[in-house]
Amino acid sequence: MALPASALADILTESDLAPSYTAIFGPPRQFSPEENLVNIGKAFAAYQETLTTGRTAFDRFRDALETGDRDAAARYPSAAQRGVALFVGRGNCSICHSGPLFSNGEFHDAGVPYFVEPGRVDNGRHGGIKTLRSSPFTLDGAYTDDPAKSGAWAVRRLAPQHANFGTFRVPGLRNVAKIGPYMHNGSLQTLTDVVRHYSEIDMERLHADGETILSPLQLTEAEIRDLVAFLATLSSEDPR
Ligand code: HEC
Repeated sequence: MALPASALADILTESDLAPSYTAIFGPPRQFSPEENLVNIGKAFAAYQETLTTGRTAFDRFRDALETGDRDAAARYPSAAQRGVALFVGRGNCSICHSGPLFSNGEFHDAGVPYFVEPGRVDNGRHGGIKTLRSSPFTLDGAYTDDPAKSGAWAVRRLAPQHANFGTFRVPGLRNVAKIGPYMHNGSLQTLTDVVRHYSEIDMERLHADGETILSPLQLTEAEIRDLVAFLATLSSEDPR
């Protein structure tokens, strides 16, 4: 059943959020459904910008290394210490999972099978670029807050290329042990499954840029446990 065009405005007008919505954007009923949707999207985006993750055992270890506090560094579990050595060393993980959020913010092919069902593939960023180019909700669209559209070049210069096929945004890894299942399609249940995936990665499946970075690591069971132990120390102790 299609909702009447005014449904969103009615819901907003009757919700507890109506006063704050009206204070920021104006009365909901003065907007088209699409404009109300855009305003909600912008409010969500602004809220997300305020979210930060709490301190982790790994952060304390990192700081201890920086200040040369050996006693504090030694409190970081030894399995996790071996795991982080693999993460930045032989595992090559930090090439893509780098920086404070453990993501370089780029798109890569991590070798996840791209068949959604027989005969249908999820082509990742390749399809995403086409969707973005035809979307009215971009920096190049009518709803941007910047009348000069100074950021629109980022949308206009995008064109699907063969190398975009099967690539996905590198996810950050903070709090990764608290979520799951993993990968864009939720195909891997546990962090052990993810590490095993990298350990046995299928080179036939990989093309694009991942191929030059990833290769089967053939980790031992102990090394798999160490990498998982390290990933578990990226969880914030903050219960929120
Ligand atoms: C070539 C870049 C690259 C390298 C190297 C890489 N990753 Fe990833 N990683 C990705 C991408 C891209 C995804 C998302 C894949 C998807 O959604 O299909 C991902 C997903 C993950 C996830 C799942 C996160 C989630 O929220 O679902 C974990 C955990 C992870 N990687 C850990 C590692 C570890 C450990 C290593 C080293 C053994 C590693 N990665 C090496 C690019 C990389």
